[in-house]
Amino acid sequence: MKNRYIDLIEQTFYFPQEGFDVKDGQLDFNGVPLMDLVREYGTPLRISYLPKISSQIQKAKRIFNEAIKENNYDGQYFYSYCTKASHFSFVVEEALKNDIHLETSSAFDINLVENLVAKGKVNTSQFIICNGFKTDQYKANILRLHKNGFNNIIPVLDNKPEINYYQQHLDGQMKIGIRIAADEEPKYEFYTSRLGIRYSDIIDFYKQNIENNPKFELKMLHFFINTGIKDTTYYWSELNKAIKVYIALKKICPSLEYINIGGGLPIRHGLHSDYDYEYMLREVVKAIKTQCDSSEVPVPHIFTEFGSFTVGESGATIFSVLNEKRQNDIEDWYMIDGSLMTTLPDIWGMSQRFILLPLNKWEQDYQKVNIGGLSCDIGDYYNSETHQHQVFLPELDEKEPLYIGFFHTGAYQESISGYGGTKHCLIPAPKVLLINRDEHGNLTKEVFSQEQNPEAMLKILGY
Ligand SMILES: Cc1ncc(COP(=O)(O)O)c(C=O)c1O
Repeated sequence: MKNRYIDLIEQTFYFPQEGFDVKDGQLDFNGVPLMDLVREYGTPLRISYLPKISSQIQKAKRIFNEAIKENNYDGQYFYSYCTKASHFSFVVEEALKNDIHLETSSAFDINLVENLVAKGKVNTSQFIICNGFKTDQYKANILRLHKNGFNNIIPVLDNKPEINYYQQHLDGQMKIGIRIAADEEPKYEFYTSRLGIRYSDIIDFYKQNIENNPKFELKMLHFFINTGIKDTTYYWSELNKAIKVYIALKKICPSLEYINIGGGLPIRHGLHSDYDYEYMLREVVKAIKTQCDSSEVPVPHIFTEFGSFTVGESGATIFSVLNEKRQNDIEDWYMIDGSLMTTLPDIWGMSQRFILLPLNKWEQDYQKVNIGGLSCDIGDYYNSETHQHQVFLPELDEKEPLYIGFFHTGAYQESISGYGGTKHCLIPAPKVLLINRDEHGNLTKEVFSQEQNPEAMLKILGY
């Protein structure tokens, strides 16, 4: 019986496959021999293969444009990149080479856009879609960008009171959007998303606050469901509900012309998974077209905000196996030179699986192992994949260490783990206050550090 790692992979999956190949027992990622990188830079190592970002954007644009043509869809497709997936300057600047727009999630994101404007990477005609529950600072930043000529900035109202701030502080007229609070998939503990305005409230809200208000032009209806774009009854029923709201609103709001279906286009987290993007996106376009035609309403232009899809597959995280520990008759641990918990926090936080492959020793026999991170935490481990509840890797030998890579790790991991002090959605670290008692027992207070500011955050991200 063949027991080599390479045989296991070739018998289990179609291999080689897009992005992955093996030459002389060593792994190539998008044509890059990874062992060369390891020899040059050592481990642990986080790599970003930048051309993948552009090719993903071009793929989505091509599929949407083909679907638009096939369906005689009288509207356009707008790709906006959801910056929170990865705010790094090298990611956003690569994405911006592809004639795209941006979606923001918090106050500092607007500082990020301003930095890109100063560098000539973003111009005032681009769409800046502003999502999220907005603090006053975020709202003020949005209005500053609008004042500085961004006519296509669209704050997407997350809640009804949000509009009051703009009403009070806005000079001139601004485009706005409304986010539908989608019903969550039944597996969640809550029924309706905390983000957005309830389906049933949207028409009344429009009539009372926007219809005859010279300050606002309602342009966009926004819809995003947490589970992403999937071929499930739940997804299609939520999408169809959103299209119905669009149609009802369009009938009374002539300025409305964009539907935004958010992010959530899945990426490969296992070698067995391959998504039929053509089918899914064609069905989305068809669903919008069919309903609009039967209601005799012009079709909307379509916006998406793909985050993981844009940047996820460009990333990989490489570790060395430092040693093997056999803790009982059946449990074998490969101890790596880093922490999974702090480098790839979704593994710990949401049981996320990534593509896991060795970089070398593909000709070696394989064995079942647990991967142990360097931190002391019991949760710092990895021992199952998307297609099976176990992990197999080549056996170790004396010749050279085994190197392993987690692939398609390019989205969210740095911000959630707080790389260098950055934060998820760029929500700043709070002010730190030390409270003590002096020798008389009186309270003393000392500010250890101020709340994080945009400059500090953006510096970490390469701006
Ligand atoms: C409003 C909105 N748009 C886009 C995204 C991006 O999702 P993804 O990275 O799955 O494409 C998210 C993710 O939470 C979101 O909340």
